[in-house]
Amino acid sequence: MYNIVSAIFLAENIKKIEIQAPRIAKKRKAGQFVMIRAGEHGERIPLTIAGSDPEKGTITIIVQGMGKSTRELNLKETGDTIHDIVGPLGTPSHIEKFGTAVSIGGGVGTAIAYPTAVALKEAGNYVITINGARTRDLVILEDEMKAVSDEAYITTDDGSYGFHGFVTQKLQELIDSGKPIDYVLAIGPIPMMKAVAEVTRPYGIPTVVSLNPVMVDGTGMCGGCRVTVDNETRFACVDGPEFDAHKVDFKNLSDRNRMYLPEEKQSVEAFSH
Ligand code: FES
Repeated sequence: MYNIVSAIFLAENIKKIEIQAPRIAKKRKAGQFVMIRAGEHGERIPLTIAGSDPEKGTITIIVQGMGKSTRELNLKETGDTIHDIVGPLGTPSHIEKFGTAVSIGGGVGTAIAYPTAVALKEAGNYVITINGARTRDLVILEDEMKAVSDEAYITTDDGSYGFHGFVTQKLQELIDSGKPIDYVLAIGPIPMMKAVAEVTRPYGIPTVVSLNPVMVDGTGMCGGCRVTVDNETRFACVDGPEFDAHKVDFKNLSDRNRMYLPEEKQSVEAFSH
């Protein structure tokens, strides 16, 4: 059992949960994730570690209530427990001094982009962050992103806060301004990551995305997280979750992620009643 040290909503349906997990807190690196089971009979869900405090022995995850299991997890309060956590899993983000690095987070993807932005900053990069959301109320980690950025931008689809438009438009604006960009990391919904890849492709800017396929064990055994990268099958849980955005087959990823939609809908409906 793992104790929840604090659980607070950052935005509607998006909860930040700090959990006592000292061994994971000590070992984890940016880009890695944990597999969590909220209760004894729960489903295993992969969640990127948004941060850790090795002194306190805690890790932080940020959960958006989408399906039954994430909604169940979002019902947890400070003082509750999590049944089991396995991790840290996955290959850590590739961090080096690239020069100017742009870290883009779309929606709850910002929670995943954040730890990598921290690591990029620590490695001596000039860090630009673009934090996108549909609307102002859904912007998360604004202060945290600002604190690790040399330049920080917020974009909202409806223009209610920051730049009015998509993260890709802001990125294009930065490229057009003549700013030399050496590395881009984009994490968010599949269409957003695909669109970022298309913006940077003509300029040959190295671009990395963090993929979110269905995962079961998270250790390379079930094959559920198969993705196609550079025409080869890779397992996101061990070979990723970060891959070269210009080589990812995004269509295959979104088709596979839609395979269980009817079952997911059924289970959410049963949970809500
Ligand atoms: Fe099973 Fe990756 S989640 S192989």
